[in-house]
Amino acid sequence: MSMHKGFPENFMWGGAIAANQVEGAWNVDGKGPSVADVASYKPHLSVEDYAGHVGISTKMIEEAMADLSDKDYPKRRGIDFYHRYKEDLALFAEMGFKTLRVSIAWSRIFPTGEEETPNEKGLRFYENLFTEMRRLNIEPIVTLSHYEMPLALSVKYNGWYERKVVDNFVKFSRVCFDRYKNLVKYWLTFNEVDSINRHPFTTAGIIPDRCPEGQEDQVVYQALHHQLVASAMVTKDCHEIIPGSQMGCMLTKLTTYPNTCNPADVEITLQRNLNNYFYSDVQVFGEYPVLTLRMLEKKGVQIHMEPGDLETLKAHTVDFVSFSYYMSLTESAEAGKERTAGNTIMGVKNPYLPSTDWGWQIDPIGLKISLIELYDRYRKPLIIVENGMGAVDRVESDGSIHDDYRIKYFRDHFIQMKEAVEAGVDLFGYTSWAPIDLISASTSQMSKRYGFIYVDQDDLGNGTLERSRKDSFYWYKKVIETNGEDL
Ligand code: BG6
Repeated sequence: MSMHKGFPENFMWGGAIAANQVEGAWNVDGKGPSVADVASYKPHLSVEDYAGHVGISTKMIEEAMADLSDKDYPKRRGIDFYHRYKEDLALFAEMGFKTLRVSIAWSRIFPTGEEETPNEKGLRFYENLFTEMRRLNIEPIVTLSHYEMPLALSVKYNGWYERKVVDNFVKFSRVCFDRYKNLVKYWLTFNEVDSINRHPFTTAGIIPDRCPEGQEDQVVYQALHHQLVASAMVTKDCHEIIPGSQMGCMLTKLTTYPNTCNPADVEITLQRNLNNYFYSDVQVFGEYPVLTLRMLEKKGVQIHMEPGDLETLKAHTVDFVSFSYYMSLTESAEAGKERTAGNTIMGVKNPYLPSTDWGWQIDPIGLKISLIELYDRYRKPLIIVENGMGAVDRVESDGSIHDDYRIKYFRDHFIQMKEAVEAGVDLFGYTSWAPIDLISASTSQMSKRYGFIYVDQDDLGNGTLERSRKDSFYWYKKVIETNGEDL
């Protein structure tokens, strides 16, 4: 094996966005409402509230649908990518993007999820988008399900709980593979497939008050089983319809450290990490881990499987592993430790790490650890499809934005990424979250900015929507130009 220095040639540098956080145009050209369109603005949402399912109920969905404005529902307006995608792609191309990860809003193609025929206008939008990307030599990576299932399916079937949704998703995916087979080679099934346990409505349309009392876990794991089976089924279709295509799984890499070397801390941490791996384990190895099955049994969860499900899981595993990485967590067996927020999850505060304005602990070495762990576990090509920091940006009087904190975040992560590659990890790409400011998934804030490109819009939707380049824009351009040599 020859010694390798730096990033591989053809490394796929780029950015990642999701339809529901950028497109807007929520009720335009035949699009049906999705679960994202009833997500309200909640700037003060505490991560601890996730477990209590604050933020969604049948009543809130009804109220949201009685209000057709986007005032309290920022994802309905996004950043108007639906109409401005050409301008945005031109900016991504200016930075030298080799790839862009986007998602397809299911309810643009099947407004309620159950139509016989797809909505042509929706299909055409993505065709135009992918065609323009190809023209600019930007390789599309497309997520089929990124927190935006048709609301009608969520209400009718309690999201992915009922098996019927598997058929609807398979139908939707096939339509996408057929239509975009000459445009898209890289696909992902479910964004952060593990997140069903943290926010079941956003991820899988599960409405908490529709779950029988005490049966929430049962509903979540049944819905997850449906997603895992659907993921395997569409992996098969993807390979058949698009020769040479590549299908990936996508997990939230929640790397967790023991708070101390007390074996009790190590054990609880091990369990947390295993719980995090469980989902991608199924998608990579094609079977449920025995340890997880036993854990579910203990919880009294019984997954109903149809004949052939286990064979389907085994036969159609993913080609590569993608993941998001924002921060690391720490765990302790002792109660009462000070805790801090991570990405829709809490952990014990780590005294060695600084935090973002939203409390997420910045840990570049954690990215290297994650890459090594994932590669050692799965031995599959890896791609980081989300990484970045949400921050409040200040626009100077001359319009410039000096986001040196963001540059530092990325630089420190890229150094570790490079070291992991040099250590032998097969990493073929990196897409930052997000190359352009967009609506936050968790709080629907605009002020939680991630981009290299600034978008003139505030939390309430005021602003010109004009795009401008932050300092990090020029920096990332240079990183791509030098294939990560000049950081
Ligand atoms: C990931 C999601 O979990 O985190 C993205 O896949 C999301 O959709 C990102 O935007 C950052 O989270 P937030 O809540 O800051 O937008």
